[in-house]
Amino acid sequence: MSSLPLALITGGSRGLGFETARQLGKLGYRLFIASRTVPRLEQAAQSLRAEGHLVSFHAFDMQDQDSIQTLVDEVKKKDAPIDVLINCAGVMYEAGNDDEVQTDIGSNASVLRSPERNVTDTIAINMIGTWSVTRALAPHLARGARIVNVSSSMASLGEMGPGYYGYRASKAGINVFTRTLAYEMRPRGILVNSVCPGWVKTNMGGPGATRDVAEGAAGIVWAATLPPDGPTGGFFRDGQAIPW
Ligand SMILES: NC(=O)c1ccc[n+]([C@@H]2O[C@H](COP(=O)([O-])OP(=O)(O)OC[C@H]3O[C@@H](n4cnc5c(N)ncnc54)[C@H](OP(=O)(O)O)[C@@H]3O)[C@@H](O)[C@H]2O)c1
Repeated sequence: MSSLPLALITGGSRGLGFETARQLGKLGYRLFIASRTVPRLEQAAQSLRAEGHLVSFHAFDMQDQDSIQTLVDEVKKKDAPIDVLINCAGVMYEAGNDDEVQTDIGSNASVLRSPERNVTDTIAINMIGTWSVTRALAPHLARGARIVNVSSSMASLGEMGPGYYGYRASKAGINVFTRTLAYEMRPRGILVNSVCPGWVKTNMGGPGATRDVAEGAAGIVWAATLPPDGPTGGFFRDGQAIPW
């Protein structure tokens, strides 16, 4: 039995999810990381334990309802509810711009030429998956918990550029989820916010990104550790509100 608060981080096996777990571990949270690939989870858990953090993991797929139920079953085995839920797992299947078309957007990212799977699976995982996971875990959230939905300024309608329809739509959908869920969670004192980490050097962001993971994760941790009178239903980067 541990009295440390519990943080569940989807996508915690690498990139921003892993770094968010690390930073929350340093703040005294026990960590539960979850994503699809067991060897990556094992490696991540080993690294986090080597730094002295208390960590468990579970392999699941956000695109599969039965698999989400296995995550819930694991949570039920814990001795306490979830204090922080970080919805960080996500994909950007449109990232491979290798085929120059009329604009500088490769066919993978083109609105009209992107393969159907790029759009449907991205929305299924990022938007529907985040909703499904949160819905399934909602009964197991502590009163006053924090939910952070990792979004992207690529979903900001006011600043929207070309391409990446599936990714942009999926993250815009997550933002709608943040807004609507925030109302529903108010009676339980649960704060729900969307966070854009910026363009971060990860598997998804690529080596040309402008930020390192520590910088990107800091804004996620900020939203995960807001005081009880902190904002809810907002969209933030580095602790500052950004346009929808
Ligand atoms: N990097 C950026 O510049 C940037 C900018 C804005 C927003 N974001 C957002 O930040 C989040 C993390 O991105 P990242 O850059 O750290 O990417 P990443 O390194 O590719 O990590 C993605 C994580 O999600 C997990 N995942 C993917 N599909 C999953 C599924 N179906 N079920 C369960 N887990 C799944 C991956 O593990 P497995 O593959 O093993 O499942 C991995 O742990 C994403 O939501 C992304 O959209 C990133």
